[in-house]
Amino acid sequence: MGTMFISYLHHSTDLLYRAKALSVRAQKETKYKIRITYGGQNQITSILKGWLAGQKAMLVTTPTVNNLYGKAIAKALQNAGIDLSLKELDCTEESKTLSQAERVCAWAQEVGIDRKGVLVSLGGGVCMDIVTVAASLIHRGIKYLRVPTTLIGLVDAGIGIKGAVNFGNAKNYLGCYSPPSKVLIAPLFLRTLSEERLREGFAEILKIALVRDGALFELIENDGLALIDSRFEDLSVSAKLILQYSIFTMIDELKSNIYEDQTYERSVDFGHTFSPTIEVETQYKLSHGQAVSIDIALSTVLAHHFGLIQIEYRDRILSLMKRLGLPIYTRKLTATLCKKSLLRASSYRGGHPNLVLPTDKGKSYFVKDAALIDDEILDESIRVLAEVDE
Ligand SMILES: NC(=O)c1ccc[n+]([C@@H]2O[C@H](COP(=O)([O-])OP(=O)(O)OC[C@H]3O[C@@H](n4cnc5c(N)ncnc54)[C@H](O)[C@@H]3O)[C@@H](O)[C@H]2O)c1
Ligand SMILES: [Zn+2]
Repeated sequence: MGTMFISYLHHSTDLLYRAKALSVRAQKETKYKIRITYGGQNQITSILKGWLAGQKAMLVTTPTVNNLYGKAIAKALQNAGIDLSLKELDCTEESKTLSQAERVCAWAQEVGIDRKGVLVSLGGGVCMDIVTVAASLIHRGIKYLRVPTTLIGLVDAGIGIKGAVNFGNAKNYLGCYSPPSKVLIAPLFLRTLSEERLREGFAEILKIALVRDGALFELIENDGLALIDSRFEDLSVSAKLILQYSIFTMIDELKSNIYEDQTYERSVDFGHTFSPTIEVETQYKLSHGQAVSIDIALSTVLAHHFGLIQIEYRDRILSLMKRLGLPIYTRKLTATLCKKSLLRASSYRGGHPNLVLPTDKGKSYFVKDAALIDDEILDESIRVLAEVDE
């Protein structure tokens, strides 16, 4: 009896001692499927039917997309026996807010989405971002599918693991890393997208091309304009190549640092240092894609200024942007705005702005010291852009 007590005491003391320094280490695999279909609406519905069978689902879409596709897809799924509710969320960049995400949560609760339920977002980046945040909150994270309907959605916003809402005066201030369970990429949706929105998509495609893929840059030079004009309608080889190159390269870039915890040097941040401030300071009058485009143009001029690229390459990029109808300048672009952006970027990139500048085709360089980008360099670069813009 006495020995047992001593041994018990010994163990307890040992436990008490060790419990002061517990460390927890656990891992969760990130795995999701991105399926590309060049089929029509029946094909899209049939894939979704397979993915949703046996689950309670709620599809969230925006008014325009609902009228064009949402109602028909939801009806076809319901007719096929899928337990699905359809919700229309009127959301824009100005209303990409937490209360919109809360609204989605309230609907989910109302229709009885439990832990095994699944959300589906059908729409552009704004709708997908809001639904991603909602899905990550419900029961601390339920399954969700993404069906992007804009070009930005297809090549960028739809395929990563991030969701966010704007908060206070900051873009994407609240958000999550929350992988979708599946993503369906269907270029069919691009047929109804406005020319302006298609152009914005090309800003993100150009982003990835300039810093990661020289071949993609040449494809855009050759066929970009025709694809905007035709709204990807004929799905030519180059249309498929541009889409697939963009998606594969983006995923390849994201994969090694998907939770953004390995390095603050992310080449996909190209075009995303000045753009959030441009969006906020224009009260979102300039869209995400337009702001990214102006950021790409400015970064290109800065790259030339630092001797990272030849003037011929700088002008080749700027003239391609103009040919595609991408904005390269706004009067709102000032040295003050840029410095504010660099400071803001430093606050979430480990203390350095890590401004991404293009070097050779498909390569990039990170500027780590904000002091290198002084007023004079910024004023001069902005002046160049204003001049080229005329
Ligand atoms: N989470 C991420 O990783 C990530 C990545 C990139 C961008 N984003 C976010 O995405 C947002 C931008 O997304 P966006 O450019 O898709 O804009 P958006 O979501 O505002 O959609 C643009 C407009 O297109 C309309 N639309 C959508 N699909 C259509 C279709 N098929 N036919 C006709 N009209 C259609 C919509 O009604 C909307 O008015 C920004 O908030 C940005 O921050 C997120
Ligand atoms: Zn972007």
